[in-house]
Parts: sequence; structure tokens; C-alpha cells
Amino acid sequence: MAKARRPEAVDKLLDISSTGGIYMGSPEDRAEDVGGIIHYEHIQLYVPDLHQAYIFYCDGLGFTQDPGTWSKQRGGFKVLWFNLGRHQIHIVQKDVHQDTKGYITVVVPDAELVKKRLAAVKEALEGTKFRSEMRSVHGEQRLFATDPWGQDYMVLQSGQAGDFTMSMGMSELQLPVHPGTARAIAEFYKRVFHARIETPISGESVVYVGPGTKFRFTENAALGPVTNKKFTELYDGWHAAIYVSDFSGAFRAMEAADLIFTEHGFFDADISGLRDAQRFHQFRFQDIVALEDLEGDGWSVKKGEVIYQFGNEVRSLCHPKFMRALYNRHGDNFDVPEDIQTIV
Ligand SMILES: [Fe+2]
Repeated sequence: MAKARRPEAVDKLLDISSTGGIYMGSPEDRAEDVGGIIHYEHIQLYVPDLHQAYIFYCDGLGFTQDPGTWSKQRGGFKVLWFNLGRHQIHIVQKDVHQDTKGYITVVVPDAELVKKRLAAVKEALEGTKFRSEMRSVHGEQRLFATDPWGQDYMVLQSGQAGDFTMSMGMSELQLPVHPGTARAIAEFYKRVFHARIETPISGESVVYVGPGTKFRFTENAALGPVTNKKFTELYDGWHAAIYVSDFSGAFRAMEAADLIFTEHGFFDADISGLRDAQRFHQFRFQDIVALEDLEGDGWSVKKGEVIYQFGNEVRSLCHPKFMRALYNRHGDNFDVPEDIQTIV
């Protein structure tokens, strides 16, 4: 039977739906909510040596070199893509190296095994910045690995990543930010992309960039006040790729504030309006600005001033790479054999 609902009930529906779950309720209520950023797919880093990168990412951390693309699709013969779950690290050979200055969290099926694998590549990466060690994060001992040029990775056992269970993948991108700016940076993502955001502890805000995946902005007192613009020294040109549901809304908002970034030299640089962005199915930005006047201990910034910078490659859900199946090694192939047989 088609039962009519009372007008008051429909008023409540209108009221609740106008705000949306990602904006209201306790963190527990919102545990399964994903806002307008649907997926965080890859991070791109420049490194000077593809072979050392292969040893660290594939032999060490357990990434799988992407077999589903050929070099022209990746951007040339000096570009390698490494898969982990639904996520990727894009490695480009250049004379310089890049790193995020924070850490990238990877989830693996067996963290003890990764520890063994990292120990097994130590000799091959002798003389580089590679290291593997336990560090304390919010009182918990965590396994960290540093790539040969200084990029840090935190390795979590599947099931340790909190509110979402993934067997393998890149669950978080953690970045150091100036004191008093973490929430304002998260608010920027909320406003432009309708992202779900949270501030789990004072001085740290997270932006949800897919189911259980987050950008985590951690305030670091050592950076000093944001007015010193130390964030410009932290950023060396790397980028992270996200997929968003409201592509035109985000583009128009960014365009209106002159935030679309085109001086990057990639294939999608020729963007002068929404139609161009749709043609590429993506656009880029790197400046995150204050949406209101901010002030802290002895500092203040005006609405519109840049408070953080890093590369964001923003893709629509119509991008041909969205949710492309990524091949990953599993099971025995992920193990370190006790007696390695070298077959040549
Ligand atoms: Fe990219």
C-alpha cells in the first residue's frame, strides 16, 4: 500500500537532507559516510633512480609494478607506476627527488612480512636514505620505511587502519602544516568539494578522500607561524590525485578564485575553462587559501591568503582511469622465501 507521510515528516526530510550526513552527527554516526571526494588514487614523486625505486617499492614495501599500462600511457619510458590495492605511486625519473615532508600510510596484509622484506633490501640500498624502523605515533609503535631519497611511509597491518578494512592500499597522506591552520585547510576541502572532514585531536584535521582514506593535516610547532610561509619551502612539486563527484562545481569555485594551476608542464596544462577541464577530465590546483580571516598566537592572515601548498590533481568520475582494475600480487608472491633460488 502507498502510505502517505505527514507533511511534518517531509519538513524533517527537507531539513536533514539540506545539511547532509557528512556535515552533522557524531563521528560514529558518520563512520560510513564519504563526502564529495570519492577516491584518492595516486601520488607522483620524482626520483633520480628507477631501479632503486623498484627495489624499495616492489621488493621492499610489496607494491606491484603496473602491468596494465605501457610507457606512453604513463608519460614516457622513465615513468613507472607501482600498485598497492586500489592505489598507486607514480615514479618519474628526474635529476631531483621529491618528497611530501610527511608520511604516506600503506596498509598491507602482513606487516611482519613487510618488515622482513625491508630488511632484505637493506644491502641493495646501502648508501641511500633508506631505513626501516619502529616509531611512536600518538603513543602507538608503528613500522616506518623511508625510500632511498627520504620519503617516509608508515606501514599498517590490515585491520589497524581504523574505520575501514582494506587488505592493502594507501590509506592516508599525512602532511605537516603550520600551527592554527589544520582545520582551515580541511574547511577548504569541505567547502569546495563537499568533503567529509573531522578534527580527531587538537591540532590535527582529516579530510576523507574515499572510503576510509584520508588526507591528515598535522600542525607542527617547528614550522612557526603561517605568516613565515615556510610551507613554500616544504613543497617541491609532487602531487596527489583525487576523484570528485561535483566536478563542475569544484572547477567553477576554483576558477572564480583564480586557483586553477596550469604552470605544470603536464598534458592537461592547456585549460582556460570548464570545457577544457572536461576534455581532460581533470584540472589541478596547489594553493589552499583561508576562507576567512584567521589569527593565532602573534599572527593573523586575511581571507584569501595562501595557508598551504601541494599539488592536487582533481579528476571527474568520468575519467577513463577511475577505478581501473589494478593488478596486485597476493599470497605466496608476497612472501620472502627462506631459501631464495636464483634462476638466471
Ligand atoms: Fe598524476
